[in-house]
Order: sequence, then structure tokens, then C-alpha cells
Amino acid sequence: MKLSIRPATIDDVAFIESLGKRTVMDSVAAMRRPNPVDVMDNFDRLLQIVESRKHAALIAEDGGEPVGFLLMLHSLPDEVTGLDQAFIAYMAVERERRGGGIGAALLAAAEDEARKRGLPYMALMVTEENASARALYERAGYLTERRLLCKML
Ligand SMILES: CC(C)(COP(=O)(O)OP(=O)(O)OC[C@H]1O[C@@H](n2cnc3c(N)ncnc32)[C@H](O)[C@@H]1OP(=O)(O)O)[C@@H](O)C(=O)NCCC(=O)NCCS
Repeated sequence: MKLSIRPATIDDVAFIESLGKRTVMDSVAAMRRPNPVDVMDNFDRLLQIVESRKHAALIAEDGGEPVGFLLMLHSLPDEVTGLDQAFIAYMAVERERRGGGIGAALLAAAEDEARKRGLPYMALMVTEENASARALYERAGYLTERRLLCKML
């Protein structure tokens, strides 16, 4: 494996859309009984929001083949201090390539980018049941700051 992380270009948009839509159901909580069609539409909205804000898009590539991506907002005002924070909007790795450190490499590259911009911290949201994503973030030093509670009515 010869992994490299590079900034995304316009040619990567189709890959990001495709991998995003193939993986986004993994990242939503089953308790909300999500309808896949709504989740896909919501992923399109997420891409539009990212595109409309200051952001960085990173591609993980192995032997010229894209195998993962990460989208990071880098001017999202933190609701506590009002300062700009880095925020991971979404990241994904091809299913058959998971567990090999590609997610960790994307995350480390995003953190480097945020540090270069002088941002004080990186934030993100992850569902409780997303064990592999939580393992990745916890291993990288992320702590749970608050909890989003939900009750079916
Ligand atoms: C989250 C994701 C990007 C991680 O990518 P990856 O390349 O597998 O990441 P890494 O290999 O760097 O690390 C994955 C960690 O999860 C662990 N892991 C994998 N499957 C796991 C499971 N079912 N339960 C617990 N841990 C698991 C790996 O062992 C590794 O932990 P370690 O570093 O302590 O060994 C990938 O699983 C993915 O694309 N998921 C779908 C989209 C998603 O949920 N995105 C996150 C949105 S918040």
C-alpha cells in the first residue's frame, strides 16, 4: 500500500458523492429509523453546505486510486467562544479498505491543516453506535464534550 493524502480537486467530486452515499447510512443512528432516501438527500444538502463555506476536502489515494475522503469546515463559529473552529463534516473510507489506518491518516492530515490555519480545536459529531468511527476518534485523542439526546415520540 502506498498511501498519500492530497487536496481534492474538481475531478474528485463524483468520487466524494459516490463514496459518501454508499457509506452515509453507516453513520446515522438506527433509533431514528432513517429512511435511506432521506439520508441520501441530506448528504447532498451537507455537500452543498460544505461547498458554500470555507472548507478543506482531502482525498486518500493508494496507487493513484482514491480510497477515502474527509471534508472539514474551517470557519465554523464555536457556539461557546464564538471563535472559528475546525469541524469534520464527514469522512469515509471504502469498506474493503477499512481498518488499515486510512481514516487515521486522513484525520491527521485534517488536523495539520487546521493547525496551519491557527484553529484552536477540531470538533465533530459521531453516533454512539458507530463503533469504528468512535474507535478512530478516541485513538486520536478526541473526548466526548457533550451528548445529543433523542427520544422516540
Ligand atoms: C470511520 C471510518 C472513516 C474509519 O476508517 P478506517 O480507515 O477504517 O480507519 P482506521 O483504520 O484508521 O481506524 C479504524 C479504527 O476502528 C477500529 N474498528 C474497525 N471496525 C471496528 C468495529 N466494528 N468496532 C470497533 N472498532 C472497530 C479499527 O481497529 C481502528 O481502531 P484502532 O486504530 O484502535 O485499531 C470508516 O469506518 C468509514 O468510512 N465508516 C463509514 C462512514 C462513517 O461512519 N464516517 C464517520 C462519520 S462521523
